[in-house]
Amino acid sequence: MIKKCMFPAAGYGTRFLPATKAMPKEMLPVVNKPLIQYGVEEALEAGLSQIAMVTGRGKRALEDHFDISYELEHQIRNTDKEKYLVGIRRLIDNCTFSYTRQIEMKGLGHAILSGRSLIGDEPFAVVLADDLCFNLEGDGVLTQMMKLYNQFRCSIVAIEEVPPEETSKYGIIAGETIRDDILRVHSMVEKPQPEDAPSNLAIIGRYILTPDIFDLIEQTEPGKSGEIQITDALMKQAKEGCVLAYKFKGKRFDCGSAEGYIEATNFCFEHIYKTGSSF
Ligand code: G1P
Repeated sequence: MIKKCMFPAAGYGTRFLPATKAMPKEMLPVVNKPLIQYGVEEALEAGLSQIAMVTGRGKRALEDHFDISYELEHQIRNTDKEKYLVGIRRLIDNCTFSYTRQIEMKGLGHAILSGRSLIGDEPFAVVLADDLCFNLEGDGVLTQMMKLYNQFRCSIVAIEEVPPEETSKYGIIAGETIRDDILRVHSMVEKPQPEDAPSNLAIIGRYILTPDIFDLIEQTEPGKSGEIQITDALMKQAKEGCVLAYKFKGKRFDCGSAEGYIEATNFCFEHIYKTGSSF
């Protein structure tokens, strides 16, 4: 059983400066909740209650968010404002949170390796909180992936089709279709130019990884942008064994970009906040 979910959250969020100068990008609110909270909600829904965060300097607000604020609770006790804290309280009560820091920014692969001691020798999920995912029709994306993991027992990446001109923003995969929504990965390239991309199937920020990935990351040389890429380590895993790519059901917003962030805000306001289910 997978119980742990890692949140690499050390990045600077330079695309959102100056908002992210003194505040972690994961704390940017989408309507009334910070991005990271949506991610932890998705993890808990999937049964992943052991949250492992890889943070960095200037990210203390993340730890404070997943802790009790006695003064605040005292202030709003027995007022109608108490309802605003029900959702975050549920996460605090039902999850455990552990933290480590990525000391140097050397890529997503390096960030995941930095979280190794929080995970140990067991399979785990990874959520990149700036990819915000919703499936209003049923299971969340991580829940869908957990079901697949229980069937296939190997690493899985979530994918979606992107316009060909956007391949340079993502890890791109190609593979053999084994079910309409699953491919077995044959190739994987980090942020290729459209002419070098093996397809237009982009990895989005949801992964399930088997623990052999840690040794593979250790053996991975810096790749694109001089960083240690999880995509390159996963390619090794795909060659040695099996990695699946899954076309998830639902919507995903790239909240690392202004456009995606605004789209996510509008979507949440319409479909979640207005329905009164957003605390
Ligand atoms: C990372 C990964 C990339 C993946 C993307 C999903 O890139 O390196 O393969 O497609 O997340 O959001 P980043 O967006 O952190 O540059």
